[in-house]
Amino acid sequence: MGKIEGIKIQNYGPLKDIIMGRTLSHRELQPLGNLTAIIGPSGNGKSTLADAFGFIADCLEIGVEAACDANNRGGYERILSQGAAEPISFELYYRENSRSTPITYELVISIDKMGRPYVQQERLRYRVQKIGRPLSFLYLQNGKGYAFEGKDGGQDEDGNVVSGKKVEVELSDIRKPGIVTLGAMKQYDRIEQFLSFLKSWYLCYFSPDAARRLQTVAPQPYLDRIGSNINNVAQYMYRENKKDFEKVLGQIQSKLPGITRIEPKKFENGQMMLRFWEKGFDEPFYSSRMSDGTLKLFAYYLLLHEKNPRELVFIEEPENGLYHHYLANLAKEMADNVNGSNKKQLFITTHSPFFVNALNPKDVWVLKKDEEGYTTAKKASEYDFVQELSEEGVALGDMWYSRYFG
Ligand SMILES: Nc1ncnc2c1ncn2[C@@H]1O[C@H](COP(=O)(O)OP(=O)(O)OP(=O)(O)O)[C@@H](O)[C@H]1O
Ligand SMILES: [Mg+2]
Repeated sequence: MGKIEGIKIQNYGPLKDIIMGRTLSHRELQPLGNLTAIIGPSGNGKSTLADAFGFIADCLEIGVEAACDANNRGGYERILSQGAAEPISFELYYRENSRSTPITYELVISIDKMGRPYVQQERLRYRVQKIGRPLSFLYLQNGKGYAFEGKDGGQDEDGNVVSGKKVEVELSDIRKPGIVTLGAMKQYDRIEQFLSFLKSWYLCYFSPDAARRLQTVAPQPYLDRIGSNINNVAQYMYRENKKDFEKVLGQIQSKLPGITRIEPKKFENGQMMLRFWEKGFDEPFYSSRMSDGTLKLFAYYLLLHEKNPRELVFIEEPENGLYHHYLANLAKEMADNVNGSNKKQLFITTHSPFFVNALNPKDVWVLKKDEEGYTTAKKASEYDFVQELSEEGVALGDMWYSRYFG
């Protein structure tokens, strides 16, 4: 599984300069785990952090100019941190798997004289133990630079090619990150691999209303951002492996309060609907009749059971619309799922102490504003005594609610 061990964001809205986890310049820091929860008062940058992931994904998909306008971002000037003299920049510290060398991806987005956003700089680096310094295998400034083919090789800071095959590169379109173009070519193995990781991100904005809309017949492997294709995903899982799917449903039904059984029902036109049996009723209800909370829980559990899961999933405030007593369980299921399978990394923002109660202080980040109004990020475990108290059995959400930290 590909994993982000750390992220650095500069000049993205309130996130003027934050680091979470390990980065190339801060390798002494603890890497992010499989679950990262983000908490903090309103207006302190949680959604902006989620949106930063969405922004990077959008830059790849629709280009930086459109990404600045998409998702109500309002254009480059609006998203740039107020008062910032430098452009927006991101640094991802990424590891393909636990045995591979970490790589760093840097993406700097600025505006040209006409005020149009473009990719000012992009770099992929890795650190070779033997050499002891980072080597770049992609380095583009204003669309010009070089890339290295194959699985090894790169150039050091002084411009020496240490090994590998270097190719001069000039992009014809600087509104799209170079990794999109180069990652589509077979010879740039490492770029291709990294790009496919970025493309596998899933940013979840589940809306029960969307899940109730009439859905087409087509089976689809993944839930879309709003969960409007919940039956299509179920249909896909049903078609791929009926037995497996029934097992998944069995596991999910035991976690949905009040639900005794879930079964797929196939119609003549090929469409599949899910039927939910509730305690006290002989006849099942179709998914369109289920409550917001049940649909939401169902969607989350379906997400956790994806066969070839998206490698990075970001969920904003999963507690919305859910009964508070379900939250500790949901949090525990999510944590167990990502820690047990090591197939996906989960980022979650939350306002719920009930949800946080099930989490480890090392996995929870508190976002707060500093004197100047910009976001700072600190792990719950770094607050005095929080880790110790948690180890003694005091629940983290209770500490948070009592303002012990955060
Ligand atoms: N360009 C900018 N520069 C600096 N700060 C900004 C900029 N744009 C927005 N902000 C700040 O970011 C805040 C919004 O942050 P965000 O939506 O990420 O908060 P949140 O932690 O998700 O809050 P909630 O808990 O209410 O969802 C605004 O209230 C504003 O203070
Ligand atoms: Mg928010």
